[in-house]
Amino acid sequence: MELPDPEAASAIGAASAVRGRIQVPGDKSITHRALLLNALAEGRAHVSGAGLGGDCRSSIACLRGLGVSVSRDGDRLTVDSPGSGGFEEPAGPLDCGNSGTTMRLLLGLLAGCGRFAVVVGDESLSSRPMGRVADPLRRMGARIFGRGGGQLAPLAVNPASLSGTRINVPVASAQVKSALLIAGLGASGQTRISQPARSRDHTEIMLAAMGARVEIDGAELSIEGGQQLDPVDVDVPGDFSSAAFWLVLGASHPDARLRIENVGLNPTRAGTLPVLERMGARIAIDANPAGAEPSGDLTVESSGLRATDIGGAEIPILIDELPVLAVAATQAEGTTTIRDAGELRVKETDRITATVGNLRAMGARIEERPDGMVIEGPTPLKGARLDSHGDHRVAMAMAVAASIADGESRIRDSAAVDISYPEFFGELGRVCAA
Ligand code: S3P
Repeated sequence: MELPDPEAASAIGAASAVRGRIQVPGDKSITHRALLLNALAEGRAHVSGAGLGGDCRSSIACLRGLGVSVSRDGDRLTVDSPGSGGFEEPAGPLDCGNSGTTMRLLLGLLAGCGRFAVVVGDESLSSRPMGRVADPLRRMGARIFGRGGGQLAPLAVNPASLSGTRINVPVASAQVKSALLIAGLGASGQTRISQPARSRDHTEIMLAAMGARVEIDGAELSIEGGQQLDPVDVDVPGDFSSAAFWLVLGASHPDARLRIENVGLNPTRAGTLPVLERMGARIAIDANPAGAEPSGDLTVESSGLRATDIGGAEIPILIDELPVLAVAATQAEGTTTIRDAGELRVKETDRITATVGNLRAMGARIEERPDGMVIEGPTPLKGARLDSHGDHRVAMAMAVAASIADGESRIRDSAAVDISYPEFFGELGRVCAA
């Protein structure tokens, strides 16, 4: 077997112009949910336009371990499930790879399903906090054991009966909320969840389409146990988080025009759009209101950017885009502040340290803060040796920075992009003129 070379680095030079039309991969968050929620329902569902990066492939592998059939024809998946009552006891550990969404949502699914299962992940995932899901599940009666006093993977889930309860989740995390909603479906009584701020609501939208009743009052939700789900066909829009790299490249480059087609525009997810607009980005939105999730085509052009403050309730709805927003901020007039974003430190890598270290190597004026960063702009960036730290979004944010920098950059472990956007470097080469 050939092992991936962690030293493998992509060389990226300055683009003289940026032009083209782009179709981003299917939304990763929605694809995970289309797989995991349809696995809870007995019967067949089709998922069209699925994202098929490494993270979603991890969800597929875990479901197969539970006896759910997932077949693939291009980007169309067919899920055939016996329903949550018919899962097989997995013969080996369920490998979530690099995917926090897979592991956290799967814990919610496994907690009350009556089977023994072990979940494992790669080195990065094994260091990420799982207590934020496992602890509230334990309060519902789940029997979950793991490393670090039950806070870290590998985690073993023993069969248990769950009871609904009231849970205050201290972080605005869609993964935690979704895990608790999934567990709440299989629990007796009502599960009430409150979070400090709203987070992406793809789970709530899909559960409603599957016939479940979820009561929503701002950042408070409740779900009754014992509801049966109907399988639902899902047409997955393009991933906004992947589109964000092109939006920043288009807005920051002096000679650019890009059209990004069929992008998911759920407002609890696309918080980067209003931020880029207030920074002065020229983005035209051609919205398609049809479908359970809003979507549309985005056209971005070279823009004179100005600084902004990003923080508070805005953070959960743009959390994954902060590394590339920091790149935009290096090109914006004035001081951009990103605060209340300490969650970035427990992503696939510490995205604050990784972003600040890389951009500083390129000559950016950027300071690290415990919960964010402060960036002075505009600064012409210069090519440098960069490091993805094995994080797909850091790799892509730095590739955007390299495309607007003078001279050549090298990004160590650029193959990390496979997690969410395997075609990224091919597309970058296609739209950038050398
Ligand atoms: C996700 C939620 C977010 C996000 C992650 C995907 C999801 O994580 O960062 O990439 O699909 O629910 P948190 O829920 O931990 O904020």
